[in-house]
Amino acid sequence: MSERSGTLAGDPFDGRHPTSHERLAGQPWDASYEDGPPPWDIGRPQPAIVRVASEGGFSGAVLDAGCGTGENALHVASLGLTVLGVDVAETALAIARQKAGDRGIEVEFAAADAFKLERLRRRFQTVLDCGLFHTFDGDERPAYVASLASVTKPRGTLYVLCFSDEGPDTGPHPISRAELRAAFTPSTGWTVAAIEPDRIQTRLHDDGAPAWFATIKRL
Ligand SMILES: C[S@@+](CC[C@H](N)C(=O)[O-])C[C@H]1O[C@@H](n2cnc3c(N)ncnc32)[C@H](O)[C@@H]1O
Repeated sequence: MSERSGTLAGDPFDGRHPTSHERLAGQPWDASYEDGPPPWDIGRPQPAIVRVASEGGFSGAVLDAGCGTGENALHVASLGLTVLGVDVAETALAIARQKAGDRGIEVEFAAADAFKLERLRRRFQTVLDCGLFHTFDGDERPAYVASLASVTKPRGTLYVLCFSDEGPDTGPHPISRAELRAAFTPSTGWTVAAIEPDRIQTRLHDDGAPAWFATIKRL
């Protein structure tokens, strides 16, 4: 499942084109996980994901794109669903696998580039993006949205939990409703079912940061 084979030895980006976030940060995503948990890694699932899961919002095979250290994937898997979490950060994936073993939860974590999800050769009924979409600049979104479409079954559901631009105390990379609607259109294979105000908990915000919880359906 790993995409590491065939990539350049010693290349911190494993042959990937660095994302806008990585170019800005001057380091690959993996470095964020090397010195303890980064601000978004709160050691528990996001409350928004727990709520939607408790409402039966996850069904079929589930993909968590940009799973980090796996708290959301682990929560959904603990409910009995088949879950694959993918990320480019090997350190995060190692932590996620350790948690799965420690907690006795059956879940799969694999290295994969969210821009190349078709390489998984799998399709999912429910796809989760918790904090990944908002890290991509506008010019990266069409390729990411197409990649998501390539692995989502017809009438499947994509959930995007991202920072919103409606403050106060907005997180980094705030996204507007209009940007979400512009990214997921019928011409890209999607229709936006709902965009609701929500919160993303972080290690830096007492009560989380303003967020959108978007429910997006694959055509
Ligand atoms: C803000 S973090 C959110 C992590 C996790 N979803 C959570 O809620 O804790 C974004 C995650 O996306 C991953 N990521 C960034 N670009 C990626 C890409 N092109 N393919 C796969 N994962 C990526 C990062 O390594 C990081 O773990």
